[in-house]
Amino acid sequence: MNARETTIVIFGATGDLTRRLLLPALLQLCRARALPDTVRILLYARRPYTLQTYLAEVEDDLRAAGKPLDGWREFCTRFVAYVQGGLDEQGVCQLHDHIRGNALFYLALPPGAFATASQLLAHAGLHDETHGFRRLVIEKPFGYDLESAQTLDRQVREHWREEQIFRIDHYLGKETVQNILVFRFANLLLEPLWNRNYVEHVQITAAETAGLEGRASYYDQAGALRDMIQNHLMQLFTLTAMEPPSSLVYDDLRTEKVKVLKSVRPIPRSAVNAFAVRAQYTAGEVDGRRVPGYLEEEGIPHDSRTETYAAIKLYVDNWRWRGVPFYLRTGKRLAADRSEIAVQFKTPPLHLFRETPLDRLEPNWFLFEMKPAEAIYLVAQAKKVGLELTPRTLVLRAPYREAGQEGFDAYTTLLLDALEGNRQHFLRFDEVEWAWRVLDPILKAWQSDDSPLPTYPAGSEGPPEAVRILDSEQHHWRPLRG
Ligand code: BG6
Repeated sequence: MNARETTIVIFGATGDLTRRLLLPALLQLCRARALPDTVRILLYARRPYTLQTYLAEVEDDLRAAGKPLDGWREFCTRFVAYVQGGLDEQGVCQLHDHIRGNALFYLALPPGAFATASQLLAHAGLHDETHGFRRLVIEKPFGYDLESAQTLDRQVREHWREEQIFRIDHYLGKETVQNILVFRFANLLLEPLWNRNYVEHVQITAAETAGLEGRASYYDQAGALRDMIQNHLMQLFTLTAMEPPSSLVYDDLRTEKVKVLKSVRPIPRSAVNAFAVRAQYTAGEVDGRRVPGYLEEEGIPHDSRTETYAAIKLYVDNWRWRGVPFYLRTGKRLAADRSEIAVQFKTPPLHLFRETPLDRLEPNWFLFEMKPAEAIYLVAQAKKVGLELTPRTLVLRAPYREAGQEGFDAYTTLLLDALEGNRQHFLRFDEVEWAWRVLDPILKAWQSDDSPLPTYPAGSEGPPEAVRILDSEQHHWRPLRG
């Protein structure tokens, strides 16, 4: 990295993202001695604070949340100032007084503010790279639908070059997500089986027990499809389905992912119900605790039709995957925290075990599990110990890390990448655009559909309607409780 001073400017310093995720990630980098000495942090937000009161409050929050605070004192010396200001010219111009050399602007702002913030920075000349690099980190969701994403991209690129823009999807910073790429392509094992000849279907799940966590106004505008599927789950999907890239440099990897999205069979608007299900949670019990329904949550309009659960089916019409359904699902207030990619293989063609207890064999599964544990699983069949030819299901489980081995948080990895100018784990605009293209027919159909919204009790496996999109009676949603 450049030896000049680098200032990380965090817009939205008092927001949840900064306090709960970005600052702990920077602290982790500092503790690991991975944050270069030349890096300074500048906080920018509307609310009045002094740097001392702000840091004291964050420290209290982190302590209350049980986050490690070792190295906190030293970390505090990295902060140059807390600058109070809004999204206006006068406010943003104050930043000139604090920035020398390189600058990384992190927009931890509501999605509606990305365009304005990027334009204000440019109007203030803060995008100019004469005295060092100037980078812009933009959070998800990038746009609200295809059209708004294209508009946002035009607005940002009016002043910023593509090389300066870092569109973040924190799933790409997760070690277990990066491991999908390594495990698939650094081993010969899976590759011969990873196609329509052997794979029956793929299920990608990101289920959460959490509810809105104080983000009602954002979430009610977004819903599950935009909040999780358009970005995180589509990334897991492309990493699972992509061809090996010719190299791991930024554009080769991106290009292969985009090819998958371009090969997705368009969902006809008239048949959206066969490809997508949405639902909203009602009151129920999560981890032994009564919780209100979505419509009773603070800040949610009583007639909201925002989905808190979404499941979709995609087909990839290429040589490798034609005919194999990829099911993607996500939801809030579900029975368990579970994120996984589960690949079900076809059953062997021979009825070798006809008329023995082995007649009805369970299929093989291969799993990348990210939550609750980080592990790789292979589910296979073996003979039960004993005199009879009875089957038992064998689960071969390989944990991703040793007990006690510390990993890096997704934001930690991505912040370091952005400081180093490494764009490999950030999104190129066509990835974002094609993901919207795939989902746009669903969004449009849901907008104009006023039939009653399916529901599910909080703490359950999701709405019964989710089976509607499964292709065969042999396909079942995997239980979330494992
Ligand atoms: C965020 C979503 O991007 O990802 C949240 O906005 C969600 O609604 C979160 O809870 C899940 O991330 P993780 O890393 O906990 O799986």
